Amino acid sequence: MMGFRWLQPLFGCALLLSSGTVWAADGKARFTPCVACHGSQGEGNTALGAPAIAGQDAAYVQRQLQHFRAGRRGAHQSDTFGAQMRAAGATTLKDDAAVTAVAAYVAALPKTQRAAPVKGDLRNGNNLYHGKCGACHGGHAEGNPALNAPRLAGLDAVYIRRQFSHFRDGVRGTDPKDVPGRQMAMMARTLPTERDLDDVIAFIHQQGRPQ
Ligand code: HEC
Ligand code: HEC
Repeated sequence: MMGFRWLQPLFGCALLLSSGTVWAADGKARFTPCVACHGSQGEGNTALGAPAIAGQDAAYVQRQLQHFRAGRRGAHQSDTFGAQMRAAGATTLKDDAAVTAVAAYVAALPKTQRAAPVKGDLRNGNNLYHGKCGACHGGHAEGNPALNAPRLAGLDAVYIRRQFSHFRDGVRGTDPKDVPGRQMAMMARTLPTERDLDDVIAFIHQQGRPQ
């Protein structure tokens, strides 16, 4: 028996590899119903209110999908787009395994970028962003999984504004079990004016553009 012990890690590896492939194929299949709104590359569709999700951190994607399913996100009466996503998730993602598989697939898609610049005072936006957002979301809005903070670069301006207002106005991030959401909701109350928000969004948007 002793002589075969060195083989065990090899068997382990083969098992991992094959289950990884099955998992990826499952994720791709799970993603098929998402394409209608989020696009075939996960690039998002502004007209449908569906954000870019390609390359977003897997744990963040997974958490949002679970929140939609549990009614911790998208359940507020004024959250029309959230309600659409909730409905989509409820019909296509039946269990935790489906959520995990599709989240891994989405996270592995190449990040997409927004081309159009948006108006705003980039100097003010830069200062405000680094003073109030960058510590969690990263200096280039690239996100920081260790702090649960998603990538913001590459999201369209309309979506960023809506989420920010939802956090600020108690539409998202109110559930006691949604600890990262509650944290962000507190932060959303630190930007004094809509003008400041415009400027911060202009800065974030610039980070998502091809250099
Ligand atoms: C009917 C259109 C539609 C379909 C189908 C759909 N979504 Fe969405 N999705 C949306 C909209 C709209 C939002 C934005 C909700 C909001 O504004 O809060 C969203 C938000 C999300 C978010 C949150 C992103 C973020 O940055 O917080 C994730 C993750 C997501 N969708 C993944 C998926 C996956 C995976 C599928 C397929 C299983 C899917 N969606 C199917 C419309 C859709
Ligand atoms: C203390 C850390 C922290 C700070 C500071 C912070 N955020 Fe966040 N932010 C988060 C976390 C955590 C989330 C994810 C919440 C969740 O899981 O629902 C988030 C989510 C967001 C989202 C939603 C993204 C999406 O894909 O739906 C936006 C937009 C956002 N933050 C913008 C900002 C802006 C703008 C600032 C600065 C004014 C800021 N945040 C400051 C932690 C922070």
